[in-house]
Amino acid sequence: MTSSPNPRKHQHQAYKLGIIIGLISLAVLLLPAYANFHARGPMNNGHDTIKCESCHQEAPGSFRQQIQANVRFALGLRKHSSAFDHQPVSNENCLSCHERPNDRHPVYRFLEPRFLKARENLSPHHCVSCHNEHKGQRVTLSEIGYCLNCHKQTKLRKDPLDVPHDRLIALNRWESCLGCHDFHGNHIMKTPKTVEQIIPAEKIQAYFQGGPSPYGDERRYTAKKEINHDE
Ligand code: HEC
Ligand code: HEC
Ligand code: HEC
Ligand code: HEC
Ligand code: HEC
Repeated sequence: MTSSPNPRKHQHQAYKLGIIIGLISLAVLLLPAYANFHARGPMNNGHDTIKCESCHQEAPGSFRQQIQANVRFALGLRKHSSAFDHQPVSNENCLSCHERPNDRHPVYRFLEPRFLKARENLSPHHCVSCHNEHKGQRVTLSEIGYCLNCHKQTKLRKDPLDVPHDRLIALNRWESCLGCHDFHGNHIMKTPKTVEQIIPAEKIQAYFQGGPSPYGDERRYTAKKEINHDE
C-alpha cells in the first residue's frame, strides 16, 4: 500500500492548491475594499475633522505577510487568523488626544481586582464601552444609572445634601447621581446640594445624544486636534 501511487492523494493535493489559488484571488479582490475604507456612520461630537488614522492603525505585518498568515490558517498550519486590515481601537488612541490629569474616573483604575464585577457588567476600563464611534453621539451608553456598579457603599461623613447620599442610594435613586456630578470631573461647575436642583434625566440623555451640556460650557481641558508623532 505504501509504494503504490495513490490517486486520492493527488486529488487531495490538487484540492489544496485550488484553495490556495482561491484565497489569493479573494485577497486580490479584497484589495479595492481595503483601499476604500469607509466609515459606518456619522462621527461623534467634536470628531468631524479628526483623521481616521488617529484611531485606526494598520495591523502589524505587511499585507503580504497577513495573506500568508491567513493561508496558513486556512490550511490548518496556524492557530489564529491574522487581522486583515486594522487593529481594534484602544484607550491609547483616545488618550493620545484626551489625556488629562485629575480625571475623576481614569480607565486604568478599573483594572484593579475589586472592579471585576463592574468589568463584567460595564467594561469601564475601555473608553469605547461608553463612547462607541460612528454613532453621531457624545456618550453611547444607554443607561445613566450605571454608578450603582461601584458606589453602593458611598456614605459621606458630613453629608452636605438635604437628602444624604446613603439615603438616595437606599431609595435606588441612581439616576440622580449624574444630575449633580459629571463623570470625568472636567466641567467647571458648582455641585448642587439640594435634590430640587438635580438635572432631570431627559436633559442628561439629550446631552449623551449630542445636545448642549447641562453642566455648563466651561471645561478644564479640551482635546488636542491632532496626534503629534514626534512626542
Ligand atoms: C475617535 C476614533 C475614531 C475615528 C477618528 C474613526 N473611527 Fe472608525 N471606528 C472607531 C471605533 C471605536 C470603531 C468600532 C470598532 C472598533 O472598536 O475597532 C470603529 C469602526 C470602524 C469601522 C468598522 C470596522 C469594523 O471592524 O467593524 C470602519 C469601516 C471605520 N471605523 C472607518 C472609519 C473611517 C473611514 C474613519 C475616518 C473618516 C474613521 N473610522 C474614524 C473609532 C474611530
Ligand atoms: C486626534 C485627536 C483625537 C482622538 C484620537 C480622539 N479624540 Fe475625542 N475629541 C477630539 C477633539 C479635538 C474634540 C473636540 C474638542 C473637545 O471637545 O475637547 C473631541 C471630542 C470628544 C468628545 C466630546 C466632547 C464634548 O464635550 O462634546 C468625546 C466624548 C470624545 N472626544 C471621546 C473620544 C474617545 C472615546 C476617543 C477614542 C475612541 C477619542 N475621543 C479620540 C480629538 C480626539
Ligand atoms: C463608564 C463610562 C465611561 C467611560 C469608560 C468613559 N467615559 Fe467619557 N463620559 C462618560 C459620560 C457619562 C460622560 C458625560 C458626563 C461628563 O461630561 O462627564 C462622558 C463625557 C466625556 C467627555 C466630554 C466631557 C469632558 O470631560 O470633557 C470626554 C471628552 C470623554 N468623556 C472622553 C473619554 C475618554 C477619552 C475615555 C477613556 C479614557 C472615556 N471618556 C471613558 C462616560 C464614560
Ligand atoms: C467602575 C467603577 C465606578 C463607576 C462605574 C463609577 N465610579 Fe465614581 N468613583 C470610583 C472610584 C474608584 C472613585 C475614587 C474614590 C475611591 O477610591 O473610592 C470614584 C470617585 C467618585 C467621586 C469623587 C471624586 C473625587 O474627586 O473625590 C464622585 C463624585 C463619583 N465617583 C461619582 C460617580 C458617578 C456620578 C458615577 C456614575 C455616573 C460614578 N461615580 C461611577 C469608581 C466608579
Ligand atoms: C443633589 C446633588 C447630589 C446628588 C443627587 C448626588 N451627589 Fe454626590 N455629592 C454632592 C456634593 C455637594 C458632594 C460634596 C463634594 C462636592 O462638592 O463635590 C458630593 C460628594 C460625592 C462623592 C465624594 C465623596 C467624598 O468622600 O469626597 C461621591 C463619591 C459622590 N458624591 C457620589 C454620588 C453618587 C454615587 C450619587 C448617586 C447615588 C450622588 N453622588 C448623588 C452632590 C450630589
